Amino acid sequence: MAQFKCIRCGQTAPTNDNYVCPCGGLYEVHHDFGDISLDHFDVKLSNIGSTWSSGVWRYKELINPELDPRHIVSRPEGNTNLYKRQKVSEYAGIDGIYMKHEGENPSGSFKDRGMTVGVSVAVERGKRKVACASTGNTSASMAAYAAQAGLQGIVFVPEGMIAYGKLAQALAYGSKVVQVKGNFDDAMGLIRNGAKRLGFYILNSINPWRVEGQKSIVFEMLQQRRWKSPDWIVVPAGNLGNTSAFGKALRELKQLGLIDRMPRIAAIQAEGANPFYKLWHSVDKKLEPMKPETIASAIKIGNPVSWEKALRSIRETDGVVEQVTDNQILDAKAIIDASGVGCEPASAASLAGARKLRDMGVIAKDDQVVCVLTGNLLKDPETTINYHIKGVSARYSNKPVVVEANLDRIEAVLSQGNDPAPGQEVKNLGD
Ligand code: F0G
Repeated sequence: MAQFKCIRCGQTAPTNDNYVCPCGGLYEVHHDFGDISLDHFDVKLSNIGSTWSSGVWRYKELINPELDPRHIVSRPEGNTNLYKRQKVSEYAGIDGIYMKHEGENPSGSFKDRGMTVGVSVAVERGKRKVACASTGNTSASMAAYAAQAGLQGIVFVPEGMIAYGKLAQALAYGSKVVQVKGNFDDAMGLIRNGAKRLGFYILNSINPWRVEGQKSIVFEMLQQRRWKSPDWIVVPAGNLGNTSAFGKALRELKQLGLIDRMPRIAAIQAEGANPFYKLWHSVDKKLEPMKPETIASAIKIGNPVSWEKALRSIRETDGVVEQVTDNQILDAKAIIDASGVGCEPASAASLAGARKLRDMGVIAKDDQVVCVLTGNLLKDPETTINYHIKGVSARYSNKPVVVEANLDRIEAVLSQGNDPAPGQEVKNLGD
């Protein structure tokens, strides 16, 4: 039977609604795995259209073996693609760099992987009200799954700080949207303190079942690579749920003897929202909360909940934590976009980080690298449009032209040939 186990003191507890041990450490799910073979997951791939071909539930034995399948609430999610693009390889200076596009999930971000598990557990436990704090994607995902399951969803978002695509989703899917006058960390504090009083089942990644679902990003990526580990997995880091989940996934696969080598995890933060980067480079390895500031609103987080789990992931995989500037994020995003793949700003921290780590000599030119693109291009059109139209330091901007409705004028403008091809560097615009 699965149990909760404190990552700080090791105490075990039943898998109920308490996510934090009396000692203050977070719980994680501790499984007693039976015999599991990789062939089993390959066989399930052929069950197209069934719950078992979901990129999450295909790995049910590794995620929530005991859950009664009748409670599963699935879209289905996952089965996202791994892309390789010349433009991206050249930008990073790494031949074998791939992008796993989690923006291809049903609600447009990786959050659906944890949410299908969290909401299914909520249904199993007879919950009626589910809630989360969010920089946008968690709220969009939770709202969608709550609607599907017939649960009441309540989302707390920082007022004026989430991208419109995400806010639109939460509203459209019918959750109650509470715009908190404060930042994500304030909203998260309210959820943690208020859940019991307000009768919510929390679906943030502090809920250990969310983390279980997010492990499937790693399972699926490895399956797509015929179970051969890359050298690196590079992931944008905000509240640190993914960094935590990836380390747990790799630890469990290694313990089960299903992989022989762990990839190294590189967690990438925005320079203005970098408490985990600072922690990693500190002596005492304690988190100092900060006031976050970055254009990548999804990772604008100054007090990440899962830092202790994430720290263990970095240590156990011989990983690194790096930071990148907003300009580096936006330029990397322009390259991903112009390669035809596209992503939201926070996602591009992965490519920006991979390029920086290559420049620093940490990643080698011939390393195999998988960057996780966490969200879809359409989540935050405003940032993309501002970059291309107004961006003073936008190296790869693709400015639109305004022309009278007259074919002669249009022909004249198009034949000028001054416009660089998208993704081609524009010189002298400052950096
Ligand atoms: N990328 C995107 C697009 C995200 O939405 C998030 C987190 C992250 C990266 C960071 O992942 O928290 O696991 O380190 N978004 C959360 C939300 C906080 O509320 O949607 P993390």
